Amino acid sequence: MTQYVHPGLDISAADIVKSGKPLYPRVPRDSDAASIKVEPDVTPTPVERRNEILAAPGFGKYFTDHLVMATWTREAGWGDARLVGSDSSAGGHAMNALHYGQSIFEGLKAYRQEDGSVWTFRPEANSLRFQRSAYRLALPPVPTDLFIGAIEALVRQDIDWVSDDPEKSLYLRPLEFGAENALGVKPSDKVQFVLIASPVGAYFSGGVKPVKVWISEEFVRAAPGGTGEAKCAGNYAASLLAQQDAAAKGCDQVVWMDALERRYIEEMGGMNLFFVYGFGADARVVTPALTGTLLPGVTRDSLLTLAGDLGYAVEEGKISVDQWREGATSGEITEVFACGTAAVITPVGSVESKNYGSWTMGNGEPGPISMQLRAALVDIQTGHAPDVHNWMHRIS
Ligand code: COI
Repeated sequence: MTQYVHPGLDISAADIVKSGKPLYPRVPRDSDAASIKVEPDVTPTPVERRNEILAAPGFGKYFTDHLVMATWTREAGWGDARLVGSDSSAGGHAMNALHYGQSIFEGLKAYRQEDGSVWTFRPEANSLRFQRSAYRLALPPVPTDLFIGAIEALVRQDIDWVSDDPEKSLYLRPLEFGAENALGVKPSDKVQFVLIASPVGAYFSGGVKPVKVWISEEFVRAAPGGTGEAKCAGNYAASLLAQQDAAAKGCDQVVWMDALERRYIEEMGGMNLFFVYGFGADARVVTPALTGTLLPGVTRDSLLTLAGDLGYAVEEGKISVDQWREGATSGEITEVFACGTAAVITPVGSVESKNYGSWTMGNGEPGPISMQLRAALVDIQTGHAPDVHNWMHRIS
């Protein structure tokens, strides 16, 4: 059986961080030509309807007129990359992804700046993580040229779907899945790469409103050696029951602990967590270290850099639930927030649990450092602050 080539991708994010190398280095592109055939043979959404959607898009409810797809086969590798109408479909009911979950995805956004230009944020980082997720799921890596070329082609085609409201953006969802129609349990011989786009506003209704979280003591999100570090569909499927449990307890989101000791905080729902110790210029910003079971968030990585730029002490460490409760109660931990591409930064207002008690973070309102970090990130993304780290990628 032909093996895929995964040069350098079989190193876990945890090991990269341990080695002191950057998790998401800038990857030079081989060429600009991803050779995507443009076949936009669709009737576009009428302008009035599109404007109606853009006025109140919600999150992930509407999709633009087109998508990009490319196919990999074991014999021929990647090919047949094309931009087509968004109702094009890529498989049948026997597809490997539907039965055995050989499926990964990414999330990134395109932002319109005041001069009308459209940009994405760190697409190479998403491409690299997509390739590492592919390695873990025995999928072939999508070349960075194809990944970024698809983004450029789709955003340029559907550019009118990028709102000029700085609180809105175009969410880009690359996905890759086993598309062979066969029921044998083995890596798929046919794989599909698809990129879809959805105009979005705030991820949580109510915008930047603190959430109430439920610490799950019954379920775990990921165990060492599992797929926690990969952005794979199965991780999200496995989270839904715990999320439902949290909702039944009157909470907005579930917080995960580590699988081995069931003590250390890992993530909130599908987002990374940050803890702020102290106040003002002396504050220390701490996030759970990447152990192999956490998703190495691009927003997490960017906030670690921005917090350092703002002069805060920054640390990747281990925080137990007991330390969280005691730190919040004593006032040592002043703010906690979750972060991700979709919601950017979401403050945690209060915590509930079965055996660890309940507590409130500060006065339950968004903390000043959480909001400062959010503004620092969003200002770069929307062109209101200089892009000193060269994170932005111009599309149009
Ligand atoms: C993100 O924050 O981008 C996520 O991954 C959440 C997404 C699954 C909606």
